[in-house]
Amino acid sequence: MLSDVLLVSAPGKVILHGEHAVVHGKVALAVALNLRTFLQLQPHSSGKVSLNLPNIGIKRAWDVARLQLLDMSFLEQGDPTVPILEKLEKLKEVADFPEDCTDHERLAVLAFLYLYLCICRKQRALPSLDIVVWSELPPGAGLGSSAAYSVCLAAALLTLCEEIPNPLKDGEASSRWTAEDLELINKWAFQGEKVIHGNPSGVDNAVSTWGGALRYQQGKISSLKRPPALKILLINTKVPRSTKALVLNVRNRLLKFPKIVAPLLTSINAISLECERVLEEMATAVPAPEHYLALEELIDMNQHHLNALGVGHTSLDQLCQVTMAHGLHSKLTGAGGGGCGITLLRPDLTGPEVEAVKQALTGCGFDCWETSIGAPGVSVHTAASLDAPVWQALDGLCAGQWASSS
Ligand code: MEV
Repeated sequence: MLSDVLLVSAPGKVILHGEHAVVHGKVALAVALNLRTFLQLQPHSSGKVSLNLPNIGIKRAWDVARLQLLDMSFLEQGDPTVPILEKLEKLKEVADFPEDCTDHERLAVLAFLYLYLCICRKQRALPSLDIVVWSELPPGAGLGSSAAYSVCLAAALLTLCEEIPNPLKDGEASSRWTAEDLELINKWAFQGEKVIHGNPSGVDNAVSTWGGALRYQQGKISSLKRPPALKILLINTKVPRSTKALVLNVRNRLLKFPKIVAPLLTSINAISLECERVLEEMATAVPAPEHYLALEELIDMNQHHLNALGVGHTSLDQLCQVTMAHGLHSKLTGAGGGGCGITLLRPDLTGPEVEAVKQALTGCGFDCWETSIGAPGVSVHTAASLDAPVWQALDGLCAGQWASSS
């Protein structure tokens, strides 16, 4: 077992095109965001395993000796890598939640305990360790924050237990795992996602693991060869929405008006394919203004289709109008009905022009990030390579008092 501190990070995601249509078997294009979740794992010998998630206010610790005494055969029932309901019920007893714990907190802790026990129990003794996870991603905004969390946990625990090697070589600031190791990380991260979401498609953890840009259709995932480094504004309208209800509304509209809605879904599929073609062309040739023009037209057409599917919202209309007033093109990303939107930033824009549109958006009460897409997937870092705010956030949180379950 490794004894050094491990620092890993994994990106969030946005769907460029294909949300909702993907539920009906069409293609979606998803890209890794340059907003990341960071995890620090500190092995030690204090006899405790602790989890600190400052973004959602969780600090918990468990006695390793107590966990070691558990009959863990329940983890082996059925497929050992599938977190079925009965296993989760047992895990809830292990977690020993306080009464005021929210569902959100419970799920994050259960995903950790599930991955910790499943991955580490092959060791002679369960390891003592402190884990701190800090994220640039807002939770619950449809940006894949839970997938990035699961990917970081899987990567760090598998490396600690030497199921995969630490790829960081002397003198390197950051490094990534081999394709084979990434497969294993993704497999376990998908289990963490299942604990949190029940029945996810798997696209979020795949993007967070591999990074870049992925094409996703009916469970089949393939990476776009060399996605260009596009810049976007990511805007959170902060309007809450239910993905489940929005998906159901689209299904009902399709049943009610099949001859109208089915062609919309077919057209969205064609938009995803055309966007993929343009991105690949941008990667092989020098990106030209026509490429950006095509991407902008695809964004506009898809946004109109999504409105026709009934997943628009006045906040998203406002977002599109504000950016259009600055000559920029936007669409919703994810489920719609509020939530997040994306705006393409052409390379010809000046800093003050970008600042002006950001100010106009924040003036509407939206949160706004300037970021790039196609970020690298799960990575391991040296402390010195992390930006000061990230390192300070992690380092400052490592020591502290733990709410102990034992
Ligand atoms: C949500 O991020 C994307 C949807 O297409 C739902 C799904 O794919 O499960 C709306």
